[in-house]
Amino acid sequence: MNFTVLTLFPKLVDSFFEHGMISRGIEKNLITGHCINIRDFSCDRHNTVDDRPYGGGSGMVMKPEPLQAAILAAKKKAPESLVVLMTPQGNRFNQEKAFELAWRNKGLIFVCGRYEGIDERIATTLVDEEISIGDYVMTGGELASMVIIDSIARLIPGVLGSSESAKSDSFIDDRLEYAQYTRPEEFEGLKVPEVLLSGNHEKIRLWRKESSLKRTFLKRVDLLHKSRLNAEEKKIFKRWSQELETFVRE
Ligand code: ADE
Repeated sequence: MNFTVLTLFPKLVDSFFEHGMISRGIEKNLITGHCINIRDFSCDRHNTVDDRPYGGGSGMVMKPEPLQAAILAAKKKAPESLVVLMTPQGNRFNQEKAFELAWRNKGLIFVCGRYEGIDERIATTLVDEEISIGDYVMTGGELASMVIIDSIARLIPGVLGSSESAKSDSFIDDRLEYAQYTRPEEFEGLKVPEVLLSGNHEKIRLWRKESSLKRTFLKRVDLLHKSRLNAEEKKIFKRWSQELETFVRE
């Protein structure tokens, strides 16, 4: 998978490509990460990339010509890539969207706007999809593009090391991940649940299932409304409701 980020702040994104899982994925040739400086495609000697909005109003708008040239240069290098505009007006990014983008595309070109946004004619002619990472406005799309690259890269087979795994992640099957513990066995008087030390794989699996359900119920009940409970989960809920009943009767 090729990631290309079109930005006015390439250093910001380059340092992201140089660290952690992303840099290991690049070293292993499983992904590539490049930045293109939109300013390199400006058309005048002042390197202008923005201008005042037609119709008046505050702020500046990113000019179409440098953006067009930068997008075309990126597409020339990675022709099969999807062009994604980072904007708070876009489709909402979530784990499902991460899977979709990871499986459907050979490459992604992220257009990161600054100022009041980009000229609409670029959005309507050269952009394949607009994506938002949430209902809040940032000063540019760079952080959003890094959020998306990070969550997609870790889904690509081999990018996460063998000791890491995307299999038990939160949001897979609309459930939050179970609670995790590591050494020491006792920390500030708090003990690791016995079952996790037992070596009994089936008991550990059941404990984790229950932990995952409990967390989802307490923290994100909306996820449980989205998908049906399976037989094992129903059994767990029935047991809980019987236990709760005893409190009500007392
Ligand atoms: N650019 C500014 N705010 C953004 C957001 N919430 N999502 C994506 N890109 C953005």
